Amino acid sequence: MADPPRGRFISLEGGEGAGKSTHIGHLAKSLESAGIDVLTTREPGGSPGAEAIRALLVGGEPDRWDGITELLLHYAARRDHVNRTILPALGRGAWVLTDRFADSTMAYQGYGFGIARDIVEQVYRIAVGGIRTDLTLILDIPVAAGLKRAGRRDGAGGGSNRYERMTPDFHERLRQGFLDIAAREPERCAVIDADRDAGTVARAVRAAVSERLGITFPEPPA
Ligand code: TMP
Repeated sequence: MADPPRGRFISLEGGEGAGKSTHIGHLAKSLESAGIDVLTTREPGGSPGAEAIRALLVGGEPDRWDGITELLLHYAARRDHVNRTILPALGRGAWVLTDRFADSTMAYQGYGFGIARDIVEQVYRIAVGGIRTDLTLILDIPVAAGLKRAGRRDGAGGGSNRYERMTPDFHERLRQGFLDIAAREPERCAVIDADRDAGTVARAVRAAVSERLGITFPEPPA
């Protein structure tokens, strides 16, 4: 058996307009100010091969792939990302913060597109084995508020990537999916109310990381 990785592995999850990219940046700065070596990354993507697969996933028409093909593409990208980016970073002691990981697949391809839970879980095991996040922060926001923040009124029509063109109904299933994932694995997941101002959400994110992973952040300057 290989030595267990030394760093910690954190994902930020949520639907559109939840503010994942903003908060991953704030959290990275906070961890760095606590003296931690941080690598931020994203999915789909995070390694050259996975970024190439990302282009296949986010471009084109919403019905470009059937559900299973899309599931396999996400996991092909994830396997490359895990092997080439995440595990090496954890192995050298860095904390890895990823904008989305496997819970996005369960939420989007499972709850959103209706692929059975056990199929998603089987592909997870085949593609990436036992790696799990130490902590998943689910940024939760009501669908209408999230879509408004993302600059869209009705949720359908506009949007530059395939997923941004899904219906409000789809986004509602997605939100409930993330909440259900958190309810099933409360030790691994923390739900953060993201329908608040950015400063309050950033403090809630730090508090969850501090409480769950036992680190102390230096006081931010007043
Ligand atoms: P993002 O960079 O805006 O998060 O866009 C990537 C899109 O890919 C996003 O709409 C969610 C979707 N996605 C899935 O459907 N399944 C997955 O496993 C991942 C990681 C992302």
